[in-house]
Amino acid sequence: MNSSTSNLQSLVSKRVLLGVTGGIAAYKAAELVRRLIDVGAEVRVVMTAAAQEFITPLTMQAVSAKPVHTSLLDTDAEAGMGHIELARWADVILVAPATANFLSQLAMGQAHDLLTTLCLASIAPLAVAPAMNQAMWGNVATQQNVAKLRERGVHIFGPDAGQQACGDIGMGRMLDVLDLRLALAGLFEVGVLAGKKVLITAGPTREAIDPVRYLTNQSSGKMGYAIAQAAVDAGATVVLVSGPVALVAPQAARTLAVISAEDMRTAVMAELTGTDLFIAAAAVADYRPISVSESKLKKDATKTLSLALIENPDIVAEVAAQPVRPYTVGFAAETENLLGYAQSKLERKGLDAIVANDVSSELGGFNSDQNAAVLLYSDGASQSFEMQSKSKLARALIIDLASKINSTCRNQ
Ligand code: CTP
Repeated sequence: MNSSTSNLQSLVSKRVLLGVTGGIAAYKAAELVRRLIDVGAEVRVVMTAAAQEFITPLTMQAVSAKPVHTSLLDTDAEAGMGHIELARWADVILVAPATANFLSQLAMGQAHDLLTTLCLASIAPLAVAPAMNQAMWGNVATQQNVAKLRERGVHIFGPDAGQQACGDIGMGRMLDVLDLRLALAGLFEVGVLAGKKVLITAGPTREAIDPVRYLTNQSSGKMGYAIAQAAVDAGATVVLVSGPVALVAPQAARTLAVISAEDMRTAVMAELTGTDLFIAAAAVADYRPISVSESKLKKDATKTLSLALIENPDIVAEVAAQPVRPYTVGFAAETENLLGYAQSKLERKGLDAIVANDVSSELGGFNSDQNAAVLLYSDGASQSFEMQSKSKLARALIIDLASKINSTCRNQ
């Protein structure tokens, strides 16, 4: 790779959280910080305990001109920029060098120190630059960990082959600092949705019964949030209208938190102007109680309770029916007759496309991190996506939809 051919511009003002783990290549992390700052990136450094055996926090503080984060349980640090704030701050997390031990912890989803916790808590893209002895890199355990991470959408930068610090020759050297910077810039290159406004609904809605009870559903919001992140990465201006979920929203998206279907409808309608693409990933409750009791309902002697429900507004159908409307995409989460039900929803709701996904399988269910889908277009075209991480699937869906929208615009 050659940095002169790159678009390093894409790193200007990008917030890079650099994780440093305990390998000999840690000494190169100081140079990496400087080279990232050279091209306008903001860098904050997190070091593991082992990394501090190879290079001091003082050095990393001096080169980054920012306090270095080393501990999860440090009350002073938490009072300054706590771990959740750091996780939200990052546009990208780069772990360089990433040791075999760190890759294994990441693959297992551990959260025993600050860096592993941040990797779990952040929704930002995650990249790792493995650096280790060639035999450790070649070990099947490491290879399986790397395959698992790749499958989850983690970017693996390198390693390189060559002479190693231990005297061995082979694969395992950390990628050169300038090549790492180039690979990182590649993640932010102007995307397929640059200049477009994308409005996304995500998560469940809650329909109040009384002050303490509500009707809701199993949606985790993971798919909608992954789509929001993919749209941000593709260069779009993203508005995320989210029902109640336990997820960290992409920092670069404008997130509007809502509770009920009616709230969600109001927020969506208020955001429609200028929207190019509307993706309805939310699992909106189809019905709500006709009336909400002002006080907590009490049990009575009949041992039964009837709730009278009324239909909620169909948000995606209402958007699709607007005289001037964005390209409108719905979701069909089904447990049977997937393509048949999805096709009829596409037609009934007047959509441009629908993402059909089977929620009956253990692998791709509501709370899973994985999903498979079929994208059906109103012109009869379709595209299948195999089981993969929700973040990878989201990127693939965004690329397909963007090429459809861009070609539709060109043909008008
Ligand atoms: N949707 C919506 N507003 C609603 C209900 C659904 O915007 N009140 C959207 C969802 O976000 C999704 C699509 O419509 O994009 C399909 O939702 P789904 O609940 O599967 O459709 P329904 O018409 O409710 O069909 P079903 O009878 O299967 O529940």
